Amino acid sequence: MKKLLLLACSIISVNAVANDFFAKADLDAGKALIEKNCISCHASSYGGDGSEIYTRPFHKVETSKGLLAQVRTCNTNLDLKWFEEEEFNAAAYLNKHYYQFEQ
Ligand code: HEC
Repeated sequence: MKKLLLLACSIISVNAVANDFFAKADLDAGKALIEKNCISCHASSYGGDGSEIYTRPFHKVETSKGLLAQVRTCNTNLDLKWFEEEEFNAAAYLNKHYYQFEQ
């Protein structure tokens, strides 16, 4: 029971943190990061300006938390060494322009 409660609390706090950071994120900085590091590969696999990957039917990301997790995974896999704040800026930019999750 205690474990369940702890798990519930950590899920709630991750959501709260994500929303808080999304609200305060620097969208222009996020846009610049994405344009520099992310778009060309998406465009070469999915065509167009590279944004179809976010808007394609059955896209992978379903929640703001999932979006942040995906940005983190890309950051790590590509070894970009973004700071956490940069991950939030990039995720917030993608959310504002493509995913539009409320929370
Ligand atoms: C080397 C190529 C490559 C680079 C660079 C890359 N991506 Fe991706 N990305 C992919 C591929 C391929 C997928 C689709 C994965 C899948 O369908 O399982 C993807 C999927 C995604 C998705 C999920 C789209 C959906 O379906 O909702 C997001 C968000 C994303 N990438 C963000 C980023 C960000 C942010 C960066 C830059 C830090 C980045 N990617 C850099 C290849 C790349």
